[in-house]
Amino acid sequence: MVYLTRRERFSSAHRLFNQAFSEQENIELYGKCTNPNWHGHNYELFVTVKGEINKATGLVINLKDLGRLVKEEVIEKLDHKNLNTEVDYLQGKIVSSEVIVVSIWEILFDKVKNIGATLHKLKLVETENNYVEYYG
Ligand code: NI
Repeated sequence: MVYLTRRERFSSAHRLFNQAFSEQENIELYGKCTNPNWHGHNYELFVTVKGEINKATGLVINLKDLGRLVKEEVIEKLDHKNLNTEVDYLQGKIVSSEVIVVSIWEILFDKVKNIGATLHKLKLVETENNYVEYYG
């Protein structure tokens, strides 16, 4: 079994906010990240898939196919968007990195199978100090 990772990047605006909490509670919980006028991140998404090496090609999967899939299904819908208001599958959710990475997993898992590999791990880097990882 060989593990392959493709990196893609997107830049998005968001705000961490829970309507069930008061403004003061949101500020205590999320700090600057609950600024009502949004803030942005340059996200990096690392998509790791696993599979056997195809003897004829020497590859687990064509990384171009994986790159195209991730771009079409994930990046184009998030890049230069407001994650709170412009992304259908994040509507009504708290758009933390944790929630975003699980949503991306749900979108990609079956589609990665269709191109001949198994999704193993997603790593979403929000800032140089913070990232989340998800294994399904
Ligand atoms: Ni943020």
